[in-house]
Amino acid sequence: MKTRAAVLWGIGEPWQIEEIDLDPPKAGEVLVKMKAAGMCHSDEHLVTGDMSLPNEVSEMMGMPPMFPVIGGHEGAGIVVEVGPGVTSVGPGDHVSASFIPSCGHCHYCSTGRQNLCDLGAAAFAKGMITDGTARHHCRGEDINLIAKLGTFSEHTVVAEASVIKVEPDLPLEAVALVSCGVATGWGSAVQRAGVSPGDIVVVVGIGGIGINAVQGAAMAGASKVIAVDPVEFKRETAMEMGATHTFASMAEAIPAVTELSWGRMADKVIMTPSVLYGDLMAEAMTLTGKGGTCVATAIAPMTQTEASINLFELSMWQKEIKGTIFGSLNPRADIPKLLGLYRDGQLKLDELITRRYTLDEVNQGYQDMRDGKNIRGVIVFD
Ligand SMILES: NC(=O)c1ccc[n+]([C@@H]2O[C@H](COP(=O)([O-])OP(=O)(O)OC[C@H]3O[C@@H](n4cnc5c(N)ncnc54)[C@H](O)[C@@H]3O)[C@@H](O)[C@H]2O)c1
Ligand SMILES: [Zn+2]
Ligand SMILES: [Zn+2]
Repeated sequence: MKTRAAVLWGIGEPWQIEEIDLDPPKAGEVLVKMKAAGMCHSDEHLVTGDMSLPNEVSEMMGMPPMFPVIGGHEGAGIVVEVGPGVTSVGPGDHVSASFIPSCGHCHYCSTGRQNLCDLGAAAFAKGMITDGTARHHCRGEDINLIAKLGTFSEHTVVAEASVIKVEPDLPLEAVALVSCGVATGWGSAVQRAGVSPGDIVVVVGIGGIGINAVQGAAMAGASKVIAVDPVEFKRETAMEMGATHTFASMAEAIPAVTELSWGRMADKVIMTPSVLYGDLMAEAMTLTGKGGTCVATAIAPMTQTEASINLFELSMWQKEIKGTIFGSLNPRADIPKLLGLYRDGQLKLDELITRRYTLDEVNQGYQDMRDGKNIRGVIVFD
């Protein structure tokens, strides 16, 4: 069939809306009609080159080329058709995308860490997880899918491992948000940082990820949730979603947190700025108190190998730094769980959407993200 999708042909280029030739689903695959796709900052890292390499460089390094690639790894839709052997979903089912596939039986899936599923290793390589061949073609070329999803597409074919069935009465815009931003932010606070009642928590960077770290920290019983972002609208939104204090920068937050904590500093610091540059870690670790935990959720440029961390204090003050992907949650169990909290009125999702866009407005949506106008922008399909 023919469909339309936002395609990136190289670093620094705008997203192009292209007509795509889409093959039917083969064994273990699912054709999904997308209904909503969130505009996460991670797709932007492909545009800037922080998380992508020019095809010539990939070739020189003996790696598969990344471009052209269909964007979008946050999304929800309705199953249209399934290939042979698919058992967990059928036509008409509502599904959440999962930017980490979960096979259910690799070492990581079978030890309760589906966010580290071995199938995720192929997230940037061309070809389906199932058999390595492509279902999406454009201008006569096989085309890549970010995170094996490509949710910036009216229709897409993905592996069964990349979709999770959700209850059909849930709004698909809310489901889309949970598939990356909500789970990643909430899980960074609740699961990875392990926020517990009474903790002092600092969240740095209040976008689609950080706002959910704020929600998660508040839900887990933090006594103070301190949100840091240079944009006033982000700080105001944080106060509506569970923050108790806000500051425009970590430098401003440091003396205030010192006072608020009687000099102990924060128990948990969650780093969710747009890009995690190494020099941000110095202030992040100053905010992290003795015995405290700093969670690195934001994505750093792939070449970032240096960070400013006082290693003396790391050991002597028994601090820890933890990375996380997908907030260290299990997509198959935790996406439905978070949607259950939404249904029960405990997790705010509708409030996260600042603006809606058509697929053709994808570049405007990303410009609005760069300009700090959106908590989350969402592409809505017919
Ligand atoms: N680890 C994962 O699994 C995972 C998943 C999704 C997204 N991410 C990453 O998380 C990060 C945030 O994503 P997002 O979609 O929320 O981005 P976003 O652009 O919506 O929000 C980022 C926010 O950080 C703020 N900011 C930038 N620099 C700052 C600084 N020095 N101090 C304080 N605030 C600062 C910006 O004003 C903005 O409000 C990105 O790097 C993204 O790629 C990681
Ligand atoms: Zn994301
Ligand atoms: Zn697995």
